[in-house]
Amino acid sequence: MRVLVTGGAGYVGSHTVRALCDAGHEPIVFDNLSTGHAAAVDRRATLVIGDLANAAHLRETLARGIDAVMHFAASLDVAESVREPLRYYRNNVSHTVTLLEAMKSAGVTSIVFSSTCATYGIPATVPIDETMPQSPINPYGRTKLAMEWALRDSCAAWGLGATALRYFNAAGAAVDGSIGEDHRPEIHLIPRVLFAALGREKEIPIFGTDYPTPDGTCIRDYVHVCDLSDAHVRAIETQREGQFRCYNLGTGRGASVLEIVETARRVTGRPIAVVTSPRRAGDPPELVANACRAETELNWKPQYTRMEAILDSAWTWHRTNPKGFGSSGVRTGAGQS
Ligand code: UFG
Repeated sequence: MRVLVTGGAGYVGSHTVRALCDAGHEPIVFDNLSTGHAAAVDRRATLVIGDLANAAHLRETLARGIDAVMHFAASLDVAESVREPLRYYRNNVSHTVTLLEAMKSAGVTSIVFSSTCATYGIPATVPIDETMPQSPINPYGRTKLAMEWALRDSCAAWGLGATALRYFNAAGAAVDGSIGEDHRPEIHLIPRVLFAALGREKEIPIFGTDYPTPDGTCIRDYVHVCDLSDAHVRAIETQREGQFRCYNLGTGRGASVLEIVETARRVTGRPIAVVTSPRRAGDPPELVANACRAETELNWKPQYTRMEAILDSAWTWHRTNPKGFGSSGVRTGAGQS
């Protein structure tokens, strides 16, 4: 399949582009490189530097014989979404509508979408399954839910086939250390903890130690980015016109913030200083997936179930690429247009 991958130069996007190539598909990455990195895009893929706000460019790219779309491009900083909600509604919701309109007019009827456990808000119980209510507690989560609705309604109205993959906490990196996570600024726990191990951060704030969890810190379900990529390939290969599907993607096991820090100390063999800080606004105490539906229907099973293995792959990436993709973003031998 020729697959248009929006946001294919980003973290989960770039790992999925590689998985698509490995599975014999032909990814065409569409990315404005505002947060992604050209150097993250697999050399076997084509990179189109383009913005979803430019409907004409999008239509032109879709006219290149595209069979399906994977839609990663989005803003994802929860705190920023609280400060600047309209930017999130524009980048996430409006641009998805533009994309869907362009797909409709080009006759492209298959899409896999990056959704999130943040659409559930604060769940009444864990683990969370797909039948539980979606009541997001911040603008980021609400924009992702609105995007799911746009997909669901399009499936009913004009035969779109769509799969929303609700990631829990994406983590880790390609095991060969060639690509990995590089957000600027970095807001996520695991890379920040590893920055501390590298001496790039003096100490890590622990956002809240008074949650109703065994050690008082938040619990998350960290799922390896390559397992997420694998789910995307399975989803695109099994998509059916007119059908909306949604799947939780997580390991079913939670780790607390303090457990992550402790595991990172073991994996890196380095000291990591922490400091207790107030709770971060909008953090649910515990998010753990029930991913049985993905196991049953997509035949998906996470391969990286041990936190050590996930952290070890992230450590290999950060240790060997302390500046991430660096400042050049140079990509050689690749198609670019
Ligand atoms: N945390 C710290 N200190 C830090 C960074 C994070 O204690 O320096 C804590 C957070 O408070 C949270 C946990 O570590 O309890 C994980 O935080 P992350 O920022 O790594 O990830 P989130 O749990 O906030 O991820 C959420 C959703 C994802 C969503 C993502 C978007 O779970 O689905 O926000 O950024 F994609």
